[in-house]
Amino acid sequence: MAKEDPSYEHFRREFRRQARKLAAFGEQQNLEGASYAYLALITTCVECHSHCRDVLRIAAEPPNLKAVPIPTTEGRLSDEDRRPIRR
Ligand code: HEC
Repeated sequence: MAKEDPSYEHFRREFRRQARKLAAFGEQQNLEGASYAYLALITTCVECHSHCRDVLRIAAEPPNLKAVPIPTTEGRLSDEDRRPIRR
């Protein structure tokens, strides 16, 4: 769904434009063109996500992230390490 946000709309249009170019180059079996269009396409993914991170609120709360302990053969795991981790 398009947000009422001109930048988001821009990225959405750009994404579609690059996707059409990629499809057209694919049909023409133009590998160089398709590679170039693909790079432009995934650049749009990253740019739009950067924009959304700055202006949209996606997650209600910051996630409680922590490193997942890797079991080793050295010593026993502590109770802290055995606790299930919410992902
Ligand atoms: C026009 C803006 C825009 C473009 C372009 C875009 N995204 Fe996103 N993407 C979003 C937004 C906004 C969300 C968060 C949606 C939500 O949480 O409701 C999202 C979410 C995601 C997610 C998380 C999905 C999930 O279920 O949590 C992935 C993965 C993703 N995008 C990958 C991509 C990839 C790969 C591309 C390019 C091929 C891309 N996006 C292009 C805006 C965009």
